[in-house]
Amino acid sequence: MELLKNKIIAQGIAINEKVLKVDSFLNHQVDVPLMQEVGLEFAKYFRDQGITRVMTIESSGICPAAFTALALGVPLVIMKKQLSCIHCEELLSTPVHSFTKNKDYTLTLSPNYIQYGDRVLIIDDFLANGEAALGACRLVEAAKATVSGIGIVIEKSFQPGRTLLQEKGYQLYSLARISKLGHGVIEFA
Ligand code: G4P
Repeated sequence: MELLKNKIIAQGIAINEKVLKVDSFLNHQVDVPLMQEVGLEFAKYFRDQGITRVMTIESSGICPAAFTALALGVPLVIMKKQLSCIHCEELLSTPVHSFTKNKDYTLTLSPNYIQYGDRVLIIDDFLANGEAALGACRLVEAAKATVSGIGIVIEKSFQPGRTLLQEKGYQLYSLARISKLGHGVIEFA
């Protein structure tokens, strides 16, 4: 997606060989018109998949996922990273390890917001090692629903996420695919 690539070139900062800082338009301040375009692009790509629900993981996935859900005319559900609820025993949950942040967390989803037979589009801001996306897929499938697509705003193609998701047969669409990062270097695949 050219608009997104141009934004990454203009405002993205490669802080080392592995991490791209995009605080000015995605992770801290949010470029809302750009996120609207992101949502329209995902909706166009997955339009024929019969999507019944868009899901994301808090927090930076919420904005692009919201515009995708709006464009598809389906509900948005946000998976949570903590167990702060009254009826925790009823939640679907799965452990996720974040290599980037070097920590483990429990990803949760209320069964009230997913139904048997749902066709779910998972949207997230970054794909690195694929652990978060795989955790989201496990929760969808635990509810006997189908993962009908995974939409990623920025994929780091030099990390194993894409391969892992494709090996499992998921349909993956990334709007910007980065092949190399380094001090002052951002290259697209
Ligand atoms: P993975 O799911 O693909 O395995 O990725 P990983 O756990 O390593 O990523 C953990 C968090 O770090 C995620 O955010 C992810 O969006 C973010 N992240 C990964 N690589 C980059 C990067 O190069 N740049 C930036 N800016 N973020 C990156 P999170 O913990 O879910 O945080 P948030 O969504 O609440 O912001």
